[in-house]
Amino acid sequence: MDQINKTLHRPKKHMVGSLPEVVRDMAKKRPQILALAKKYGTPFYLVDDENLEDSISGFENAFREHIQESKFFYAIKANPYPHFLRRAVHHGWGLDASSGRELKLALDSRAKKILLTGPGKTEAELKLALKHFRNVILNIDNFSELARLGKLLRRKKIRIRAGVRIFSSIHGSWSKFGISLSDLQRFWQKSRSMPGLELQGIQFHTSLNLGPERYQQIIAELGKYLKTKFSAQMRSEIKFIDFGGGFFPDRVEGYYPWSHHYPWMFSGGEKPKPEARYYITRAASPEQYASGIGTAITKHLSPLGKHEYFGEPGRIVATRAMHIVLSVLDVKQNLAITDGGLNMMGWEFGKEFYLPIVNLTNFSDKEMRFTLYGSLCTPRDLWGHYIYAKKITEGDVIVIPNQGAYRFALAQEFIKPIPPVYILK
Ligand SMILES: Cc1ncc(COP(=O)(O)O)c(C=O)c1O
Repeated sequence: MDQINKTLHRPKKHMVGSLPEVVRDMAKKRPQILALAKKYGTPFYLVDDENLEDSISGFENAFREHIQESKFFYAIKANPYPHFLRRAVHHGWGLDASSGRELKLALDSRAKKILLTGPGKTEAELKLALKHFRNVILNIDNFSELARLGKLLRRKKIRIRAGVRIFSSIHGSWSKFGISLSDLQRFWQKSRSMPGLELQGIQFHTSLNLGPERYQQIIAELGKYLKTKFSAQMRSEIKFIDFGGGFFPDRVEGYYPWSHHYPWMFSGGEKPKPEARYYITRAASPEQYASGIGTAITKHLSPLGKHEYFGEPGRIVATRAMHIVLSVLDVKQNLAITDGGLNMMGWEFGKEFYLPIVNLTNFSDKEMRFTLYGSLCTPRDLWGHYIYAKKITEGDVIVIPNQGAYRFALAQEFIKPIPPVYILK
């Protein structure tokens, strides 16, 4: 605790990183957000349509430029709020669903192309996918699922398109998902004899990437495997390669020197710099991800045949598209309690991660040291230790920008209800 306090109170000039562009964006939207807070009361989630549009088109333009035959499927799990799905569909995107619940959301938003990916698909989920075989491509997870699917297909007169999920030598604990690349040939041959199944794709996914390197490694491994283990006929049957999601956005949040939640944080690796109060997470731009992946595709996969390339981005689309808006209820010495708690985020995020927090009422583009808590009955219900503010007083409207991914999706009714969602046009 002493160490944490020492870190928190380090002089400002030693802070590593800051997020001025995030604060500027909030300053620009300040009048509308304050008006919404006045009209509806707080707390609430705020969909930022302008940022959503920018994220969708920024990703799409970057990937189209480097990978011509690319198609995008927004990963619903990042934020299933129907507006997000509708906007992705409006842009001609498909949707990536990971359960029957998400598949229903995708069907409701009239997506023409839906991937059903994910482990542990139940019979009811598979049946729902088969019912909508014209719109759904199944990413099959494993041999058992293939067998269950085979049984269901025997009674039907349809053909469903499918891919198979693989894991490679770099997947580590993520090898819970899919089959080993070394089993791909066996899987491919087995599925050929299955009436009603048209296996035409290969899918993989890695999470929390900060750059294109891991996509490139898997693409190289896959290319080598297909070249040596697949016959020319089998290679010609591959219509799509799906490189999943996992694109972390640049400069939206950070982490404290004591954090160890993600693999690239400090646990066991590089030692935190003693002068740091927090670190800003840096990641590649959509352009850099796309160019890196495009280069690997040109080298390792394009020579093997003509494919479409699918991406399943969630986080990079959703992050900037939703903010959390709260008010200060009680001010104590150097801390305040707000009316929204971490049940809005689903877990104790503020302990590990630095989030920019902006006081819209007493706004400043300078950050001050001040601890902001939520209203749940636990000291872990903490928003953060620094605020962009002149001062903090009762009734101040506070925004936590860029909380669109894996927060609303994880929200839970714990002590307090899940607050409403409004849209900032
Ligand atoms: C199969 C699959 N596709 C896409 C995604 C979306 O990932 P992200 O939100 O990191 O882009 C995930 C997330 O876990 C996933 O498991």
